[in-house]
Amino acid sequence: MVVVGAGHVGMITAMKLAEADIIDEVVLVDIADGLAAGIALDLTHSTALLGFDTKIRGVTTLAEAGTADYVVITAGRARQPGMSRTDLVEVNADIVGSLAREAAQISPNTVMLIVTNPLDEMTHHAWRTSGLPAERVLGMAGVLDSSRFQALVGLAAQASPSSVSALALGSHGDEMVIPLSQARVDRTPIERALPGATVTALVDRARNSGAEVVGLLKSGSAFFAPGASAARMVLAMATDSDEIIAATVRAQGQYGIADGYVGLPTRLGRRGVREIVELPLTQEELGALQTAAARITDRVADLQEATVTS
Ligand code: 2OP
Repeated sequence: MVVVGAGHVGMITAMKLAEADIIDEVVLVDIADGLAAGIALDLTHSTALLGFDTKIRGVTTLAEAGTADYVVITAGRARQPGMSRTDLVEVNADIVGSLAREAAQISPNTVMLIVTNPLDEMTHHAWRTSGLPAERVLGMAGVLDSSRFQALVGLAAQASPSSVSALALGSHGDEMVIPLSQARVDRTPIERALPGATVTALVDRARNSGAEVVGLLKSGSAFFAPGASAARMVLAMATDSDEIIAATVRAQGQYGIADGYVGLPTRLGRRGVREIVELPLTQEELGALQTAAARITDRVADLQEATVTS
């Protein structure tokens, strides 16, 4: 399998996938000469220490990487001073679009997982440019945002984060929807486990967690949880795990969303999205999810207009 982009997120994704020891080879690709090769060698040096046999290679082009069952795209620019969000969207659309097109030519049977921001728009863009079927192009963010909420609830409720079940849906951003009707601490509905105001504050904090980390780091953004989330999604697919996992996928009628990429509960398998799972949400949650999908669709239309006219 291939991870494109050997920045912090790509590096952690490759590390977690290699350490899982169920994938034959992880190939890290980065245009910066020596970066992917250096990280691959460094990771390889840890194989005896940590007891895994995954082969790890680092190269500068997708062609050298060869065919892959899974391609994870983390490459892209971070927002620079003076750059608007729209500027960033266009720059990353160019990068993600050409990578997605080339990766699909080299590996027409691949499943493509998009990690580059803005996540929802980039996932849609990769689907369009790659020409792959929608069930084989999906985005990572729901796993990350769910994990952040679980961690924060665990701290607040003095419970183990893994005893918290919750799914973050909608967009990876302002329209993130965490349906509280589905959230539990152990088996207790979250609204009985914690005061309502606390839960609301935790939802807001989860929604802003990416920015919170950026604010602390001052330069760069989060990478441990994002990398671990991308790896988790690939492992869920590679092992045909039956778990319900939040992912950015193309709805076609589910949750009353006629058509468009948005974060939804899914079951993943070797060939990508096996199923979009329809949970019994409240009317309000459903409305928020539909709004999220509509906003993402609007932004995708803006992007299409920009890339056609520029
Ligand atoms: C995050 O949420 C920046 O999207 C990235 O950490």
